[in-house]
Amino acid sequence: MQNPSLLVLPGDGIGPEVMAEVTRIIEWFGDRRGLRFDVEEDLVGGAAYDVHGVPLADSTMEKAQRVDAVLLGAVGGPKYDALPFEVKPERGLLRLRKEMDLFANLRPAQCFDALADASSLKRDVVAGLDIMIVRELTSGIYFGEPRGIFPDNEGGRVGINTQRYTTEEVRRVARVAFELARRRQNRVCSMEKANVMESGILWREEVQWVHDNEYPDVELSHMYADAGGMQLVRWPKQFDVIVTDNLFGDLLSDVAAMLTGSLGMLPSASLGAPMENGRPKALYEPVHGSAPDIAGQGKANPCACILSFAMALRYSFDQGAEADRLERAVETVLGRGVRTPDLMQVEGKAPATTRGMGDAILAALDETA
Ligand code: IPM
Ligand code: MG
Repeated sequence: MQNPSLLVLPGDGIGPEVMAEVTRIIEWFGDRRGLRFDVEEDLVGGAAYDVHGVPLADSTMEKAQRVDAVLLGAVGGPKYDALPFEVKPERGLLRLRKEMDLFANLRPAQCFDALADASSLKRDVVAGLDIMIVRELTSGIYFGEPRGIFPDNEGGRVGINTQRYTTEEVRRVARVAFELARRRQNRVCSMEKANVMESGILWREEVQWVHDNEYPDVELSHMYADAGGMQLVRWPKQFDVIVTDNLFGDLLSDVAAMLTGSLGMLPSASLGAPMENGRPKALYEPVHGSAPDIAGQGKANPCACILSFAMALRYSFDQGAEADRLERAVETVLGRGVRTPDLMQVEGKAPATTRGMGDAILAALDETA
């Protein structure tokens, strides 16, 4: 049997330093659990632009299509702000998502008990929180045509983006949400703006259709996305699975991240259709960005990236028990009070470095094996 293959794309900003900790975790699973991966590393985002003049080389795209799963750190940074739109670091990530057709983005927001006080919300609002946001990732306003900046008739300019969804695009991501709900609390809340957008009306009707025809056993509700944002901070535990479009999902998942204590905690899985080997096309990445303000200082929290690898174990490699092992190790370490600066609630205690957090998680893993 061949080892499963991974393409590691650390990217920009804090990407490389958090990915360095993930690499040590991957090695740990090889050494201690006999779970070996063939790991290739390559460039994405600004790091790729610096070498190739594009944020994702064709050769990297080919590798991404070939491997069993891609792990990505983060892309972007002020150094690249002035670049033409087509070669901005973010375009590299968007190309990966689009060409791999990773239409379902799973963003689980779980509040570890040890972090309930690190959230900006009251403990009882967030303690025990476990929700799953399913964000549509390859369509909507991120990709709709026409798009661009054009001259208008008054000598000014007009900026255009198009929100566009087809029946099948909505149905396939809705199915992912319903499937997940069946393995959780069996509830889906769909969010759009059907009160102002035709694409929102279509979204609502198609989600309802999938429910009525294929998943009548799952409880379905609909909410306008603005009200959904409000409810997420008012009483987030009312939700189980939330399914929403690309743009609303981007916003709502950042909101949900803060419920868990820090953006540095939230992992994600972007999944497409199954490949020949039965595994879904997949890319795993933390929800946080490249955080250029703290890059290279050992301040970054590697947990979101490490937990993204746990999602890879679960969703790509059928290693649910090993994913649990890794998630429990993270929880143990947080329970012991190890905190990177983003998680510090009280002054006075020295924060852990990125490497220190990685060390502590590896030590906790050692205790389990
Ligand atoms: C995310 C990010 C990306 C997005 C950026 C980096 C293109 O914010 O994954 O949430 O907008 O999708
Ligand atoms: Mg985002």
